[in-house]
Amino acid sequence: MTVTTLPPAVDRTPARTGAATVRRDLRAWVADVADLTEPDAVVWCDGSPAERQALLDGMVAAGTLIPLDPVLRPGSYLARSDPSDVARVESRTFICSRAQADAGPTNNWRDPDAMRAELAGVFEGSMRGRTMYVVPFSMGPLGGPISQLGVQLTDSPYVVVGMQTMTRVSRRVVAMIDAGASFVPAVHSVGAPLRTVSGTAVADVPWPCNDTKYIAHFPETREIWSFGSGYGGNALLGKKCFALRIASVMGRDEGWLAEHMLLVRLTSPQGRRYHVAAAFPSACGKTNLAMLTPSLPGWRVETLGDDIAWLRAGPDGTLRAINPEAGFFGVAPGTSVATNPAAIATLDHDTVFTNVALTPDGDVWWEGLTPEPPEGLVDWTGQPWEPGCGRPAAHPNSRFTVAAAQCPTIADSWEDPDGVPLDAIVFGGRRATNVPLVAQAHSWEHGVFLGATVSSEQTAAAEGTVGELRRDPFAMLPFCGYDMADHWAHWLRVGATLDPATRPLVFQVNWFRKDAAGRYLWPGFGENVRVLAWIVEQVDRARGERTDVGAVPSPVGLLPAPGALDTSGLDVTDEDLRALLDVDPRTWAVEADLTEDFFAGFGDRVPAALHHQLALLRERLSGT
Ligand code: PEP
Ligand code: NA
Ligand code: MN
Repeated sequence: MTVTTLPPAVDRTPARTGAATVRRDLRAWVADVADLTEPDAVVWCDGSPAERQALLDGMVAAGTLIPLDPVLRPGSYLARSDPSDVARVESRTFICSRAQADAGPTNNWRDPDAMRAELAGVFEGSMRGRTMYVVPFSMGPLGGPISQLGVQLTDSPYVVVGMQTMTRVSRRVVAMIDAGASFVPAVHSVGAPLRTVSGTAVADVPWPCNDTKYIAHFPETREIWSFGSGYGGNALLGKKCFALRIASVMGRDEGWLAEHMLLVRLTSPQGRRYHVAAAFPSACGKTNLAMLTPSLPGWRVETLGDDIAWLRAGPDGTLRAINPEAGFFGVAPGTSVATNPAAIATLDHDTVFTNVALTPDGDVWWEGLTPEPPEGLVDWTGQPWEPGCGRPAAHPNSRFTVAAAQCPTIADSWEDPDGVPLDAIVFGGRRATNVPLVAQAHSWEHGVFLGATVSSEQTAAAEGTVGELRRDPFAMLPFCGYDMADHWAHWLRVGATLDPATRPLVFQVNWFRKDAAGRYLWPGFGENVRVLAWIVEQVDRARGERTDVGAVPSPVGLLPAPGALDTSGLDVTDEDLRALLDVDPRTWAVEADLTEDFFAGFGDRVPAALHHQLALLRERLSGT
């Protein structure tokens, strides 16, 4: 085995000792994994542009990437995955805590020792014939007080390039680890060795992967082992695996929060700045809200993050937030100049697209990019594509991977290591009925209740069929690394440590409410700034900086007072607005019963404060 550019060892502390030891010797661990997986070479990555270009060139030569037209889409590439490897595999995602109860009822639990034995079997020789890349990275600005270090080992150059975009890959991380910093070790193999045990060569393919997949997390030892997939959420281990599942456990133990939230700065016409974090389940428009182009004159929205936020109390008692990522791994279909012009501008150059369609002139296309598809498309599987053929040209989960710095609306402070002070936290879902356009929580505890009970409809459900809801508490259902009800208790604890004078206000939003005819009542997209404006004006009122009446009480929270939500120039009638803010006590009584059932699934781990919030909701409902 050849080992290239191994940095000189500074620290030679003993290799991993006990299961609970988080401090590890980096080189010993890398050597252990290489012994297990048997790569032909080990390459220590430095995150440099030259390294990236060499990897991209190599993938073009190997047929993994198709270079796009250098004039139409400079520095950009198309990857076509194996048709079976296109999304996160929640059924093969495991939380391997010592106690099953600590994983909670919403995660797949496996005993850590049993899983280690199973993983040793699948990883044995899994990198034969390939290069193992050592990718040292930081989630958040290097050395920042909220940031964390990780090292991913992977046999996929596509994953190395993705990690370079989505995280901060740097040799400085190795120096920090050598100087004593702890790191999260993350091992990834596509599970497609190029030699059998007996040494017979196996031909490579453009997108190697394995039908057997494991996305395994060891919360106590802060380890990640991922096998069989090259797809983003399964393979770019800094993202969902570290920044959400492992980080949520670190946050639980250390008093901070790792959340599935976008992060934006809003500037009012008066020049006042506010920071808002918002949690929505997948496919509810997080990236669109993060890059919103405001329709209201004078308001400005700047992007800080579109998927993950880490929240930690600052020394001054404010809740500070960073986006731990360095790029966007977004869904392409539906993204257009009309829905998200900032995203379209971001994707102008230096973007890796995965599973979108290819145009005859070497550019990309996906459903929704333009009203009409260009002629002569090649679909995401490489087949010629015609409109009306019954297949989508781009896979519905096709993605772009692009540096956040390329976004024209990126906030100048997006890399501030201390983060930004949060003024408001928003929870949202896709609900055709019942849930108002916007409501403000009565208190922090009520806000945690709103987050805990978030529900969403995958498709437009029939009117009033509240039973068809999918609960997605805190939009963290696939991403919480420990018991979800403990997560709610943790939110209550963190809130109690914050200065009540500056503690963020909590809101619930629903852009997706429909009338009886199935028509969306709210235009959404750039018009959502009107709701954000009301939210931050409520922040001003809570801080005594405005004295006008902004809200009226309702059983489910504070609603915009008449006239407080700016709908000027909108095609939203007074009747529409009433329907958008309507709270029907009868259907809400059903919601309350469903919430009781939902809580029952978490047994006695549900905090008493949330049972109390449910009782208060019912009290308010019966008072109407
Ligand atoms: C992912 O799958 O990597 C991902 C970002 O997931 P989602 O968009 O569903 O949050
Ligand atoms: Na299970
Ligand atoms: Mn996400």
